Amino acid sequence: MTTLVTGGAGPGYRSVPPRDWWRTEGSFFLLSEGHRAAREAERAVDFLDRVVGLSPGEKVLDLACGWGRLALPLARRGCLVLGVDVSHVVRLGGEAAIREGLPVGFLRADLRHWPLRGSFDLVLLWAMSFGYLSEEEDLALLASAAGVLRPGGQLVLDLHHPPWYRRYAVGERVELVPGGVLHDEGRWNEREHRFEVLSTLASGEGKVRARQFHSFREYLPGEVAILARKVGLRIIATYADLRPDPRLPGPEDSSYQVVLSPRARRPGVPGPRRGPIPTLPSPRSESSPGPSFPRRSRRQAGRPRSRAP
Ligand SMILES: C[S@@+](CC[C@H](N)C(=O)[O-])C[C@H]1O[C@@H](n2cnc3c(N)ncnc32)[C@H](O)[C@@H]1O
Repeated sequence: MTTLVTGGAGPGYRSVPPRDWWRTEGSFFLLSEGHRAAREAERAVDFLDRVVGLSPGEKVLDLACGWGRLALPLARRGCLVLGVDVSHVVRLGGEAAIREGLPVGFLRADLRHWPLRGSFDLVLLWAMSFGYLSEEEDLALLASAAGVLRPGGQLVLDLHHPPWYRRYAVGERVELVPGGVLHDEGRWNEREHRFEVLSTLASGEGKVRARQFHSFREYLPGEVAILARKVGLRIIATYADLRPDPRLPGPEDSSYQVVLSPRARRPGVPGPRRGPIPTLPSPRSESSPGPSFPRRSRRQAGRPRSRAP
């Protein structure tokens, strides 16, 4: 089978990264990572349960949810989940939800243009789903994610740890995956602080099945703290590589997770926004309405979240 999923990458990728490369990331991620999805997602959901506490009826917004790798197991644990992603793979999540009768809705939309609404206990930007866009768009996305958290709600970012990527992921890497070989050619873009990779998935016979260019703005923990402050969030805890004890990532940690919550406003103190925050452009009709969001359970209202350190 030859499936070509391309963000426009090709021989010219060295000089001209394709615009909006992330539009095809959902299907490439499914092809290249699908085989380990279930195991890794359970580990991620266990981590979330430990550090933010998941309980039935929890209202969760999974931004850039892909095919529901996390949204589905979260719903199996009783959370009421809405997943949003620009990729057509959201359809797979919707089909699984219907098959299993799970309380999860999926919506296909570009997060840059989809006006986030509602009030959620937990908002996720998981598996490096924050950092694809321009810095301005990333900040606008963070501001809108912050805007849909209920007081005391939590936003969790799962991010690459830039020093690890600079040290270990630059150059060529080859991995055997079911049905073929995944070849990555990574480089560090110092000017823009982006890690860029050209990934090629080939069959055992060497036939190219898919090619994807990636470009991640790699935020350091200190930069996340600055962005958080700008959008009225505070950091509750930082974790390294999904380990349960809160701590900053070290040089050998490839990922880190940040739990954020809205800053409480004190009477008479001006709001948290210090500088201009770019707003997301007005919505365009890229989205197709998915199943509606599951009803809010009665036990949800006003319940304090308690388990964050
Ligand atoms: C690495 S995948 C992670 C998916 C999911 N969070 C997970 O952990 O399985 C990144 C996802 O971000 C989505 N994405 C990237 N840019 C987006 C945008 N502007 N709007 C909506 N989804 C976007 C891609 O389609 C892709 O499914």
